[in-house]
Amino acid sequence: MSLSSAVEVRAASPHKQTLVAGLMQFYLHDFSTIGNSASPLYVVDPETGAFPPYPGLERYWADPGHLPFVIRTAGEVAGFALVDRTSRDGREIDWAMSEFFVLRKFRRSGVGGEAVRQILGMQPGRWEVAVMENNVAAWEFWPGAIAGAPNVTGFEARAGDGTTWSGPIWSFRAV
Ligand SMILES: CC(C)(COP(=O)(O)OP(=O)(O)OC[C@H]1O[C@@H](n2cnc3c(N)ncnc32)[C@H](O)[C@@H]1OP(=O)(O)O)[C@@H](O)C(=O)NCCC(=O)NCCS
Repeated sequence: MSLSSAVEVRAASPHKQTLVAGLMQFYLHDFSTIGNSASPLYVVDPETGAFPPYPGLERYWADPGHLPFVIRTAGEVAGFALVDRTSRDGREIDWAMSEFFVLRKFRRSGVGGEAVRQILGMQPGRWEVAVMENNVAAWEFWPGAIAGAPNVTGFEARAGDGTTWSGPIWSFRAV
């Protein structure tokens, strides 16, 4: 069985917050070379070596319109997704892919694409995905991942205004 055919995405129950917080450390490590590396978000604690906790992670288990998912492949944890309702340029949307992560050992095996397909299948509505302008892998990944979901229509690409958001923003509807 291929890694992508064994992917399973599930809503993360409250006791999985610790798991997502742990995976988030690796996500922040990746982003420390993609985002503004001088940002306090990417400065590790001098005692523990850990990146600061992701601001507002607990909201994904507390606030309406915030959805946490864990991605597994062949039963092993492979990543996570955080979905909320925040448009990067103020549009009326139902869902935004706020954070999306696949562990390095599972990358380029179709795991991310299959996880996107499953999440879009679970959450119909008006979607937005925004990518930081220097996140080259994500630029390459998202258009194909969105197109690979059978329930997507009305794909539209635009650029952030450079102030609120710098990078591509993709909108579409999952039906
Ligand atoms: C972006 C990310 C989610 C992709 O996950 P993945 O499981 O490797 O994705 P897939 O295997 O489904 O990739 C599908 C296609 O996307 C493109 N792609 C994915 N990663 C790529 C990369 N690093 N460089 C170029 N193209 C890439 C390729 O076309 C790939 O198909 P191919 O492997 O047959 O060439 C993963 O690299 C990741 O977690 N990165 C760090 C966090 C991040 O940037 N998240 C996105 C935030 S918006």
